[in-house]
Amino acid sequence: MTIPFINLDRQHKNLSKEIQRAIERVANNSSFILGNEVLEFEREFSSFIGTKYAVGVANASDAITLTLKAYDIGHGNEVITAAHGAFMTVESIINTGAEVKFVDIDPRTYNIDPDDISKAINPSTKAIIPVHLYGQPANMTAIKRITEDHKLLLIEDASQAHGAFIDFRRVGTIGNAGVFSFFPSKNLGGWGDGGMVVTNNEHIAQKIKMLRDHGRSDKYTHKIIGRNSRLDALQAAILAVKLPHLDQWNARRREIAHRYNNGLKGLPLILPEETQGGKHVYHLYVIRLKMRDALKQYLEKHAIQTGLHYPIALHKQPAYSRPIKQEESFPVAEACAEEVLSLPCFPELRNEEVDFVVKKIHEWHT
Ligand SMILES: Cc1ncc(COP(=O)(O)O)c(C=O)c1O
Repeated sequence: MTIPFINLDRQHKNLSKEIQRAIERVANNSSFILGNEVLEFEREFSSFIGTKYAVGVANASDAITLTLKAYDIGHGNEVITAAHGAFMTVESIINTGAEVKFVDIDPRTYNIDPDDISKAINPSTKAIIPVHLYGQPANMTAIKRITEDHKLLLIEDASQAHGAFIDFRRVGTIGNAGVFSFFPSKNLGGWGDGGMVVTNNEHIAQKIKMLRDHGRSDKYTHKIIGRNSRLDALQAAILAVKLPHLDQWNARRREIAHRYNNGLKGLPLILPEETQGGKHVYHLYVIRLKMRDALKQYLEKHAIQTGLHYPIALHKQPAYSRPIKQEESFPVAEACAEEVLSLPCFPELRNEEVDFVVKKIHEWHT
């Protein structure tokens, strides 16, 4: 038996008729860029998340860059984010011309450590981008207090946390804006790239609409310098079919995570910890152990696919060329890079597959 890290085919088989109908509808209308499909999905997504506006863009990387640009953040400004996570968050900040200021993570949640944020703030700091990593909401109460005290913007990178809650609010609704990725493997994924910005700020939503479409205010007038970052009608139509299933898929991800937790408890591994008030949606089920590479190899030998999220701390990525100052070390992020291991976790994963992974991890420990 091969246990895939992710298998999208299982999800698509269940929805194939509805998706085919959506694709035919777009083809029959021959309206492939923006248009009604995108408008309709933006409406559905903002109502699901709980914001007034949602703006569809080409991917989440652009969603971050365009949101920062809409708030006039660029050269001479600094943006704070965590030293552990997806490089795209960092790259998207750098693409505005702003500098990244890294902060270490909380070892219990893998999310940015609010206690370290204040130390990173200086007069150039303009925004904080917490990432709700692996589907676990960051500590938004503490982070929001810091942004209010220092008059900073708060932009949530919810690319891995569609539908996650903090108390009774979905992530993406707590900061000034939230961004989502619809990369195919995400909790809500398209059949290609896609992204979304959500906000309650009408001016910012309108500006991002202009920025995603060459800075246009109407067909022939380019009011600002933007780019081409439009969401395809086909992606919007497919995502609209999937959105009503998201809560149920997230509930199944949580069930799988709890099954792993029960099966693995007592072993010398660090299991995911859920924070109080937060509802983790397990985009990734990540364990932590010193002998990570040996366990990964063992599982692979037994046809169990695993992933590494992420094996290089962000400040150590070669593309991040700014010389690292001596004091810039992030010990928790650096340790996690060597110790985290993602186990298969997707809604269509079967209980017997989870149990097989658990069994093999027990065997490895004996
Ligand atoms: C946390 C995070 N931010 C941003 C991105 C970028 O998303 P996209 O591939 O849609 O540009 C990703 C994608 O992996 C991500 O996981």
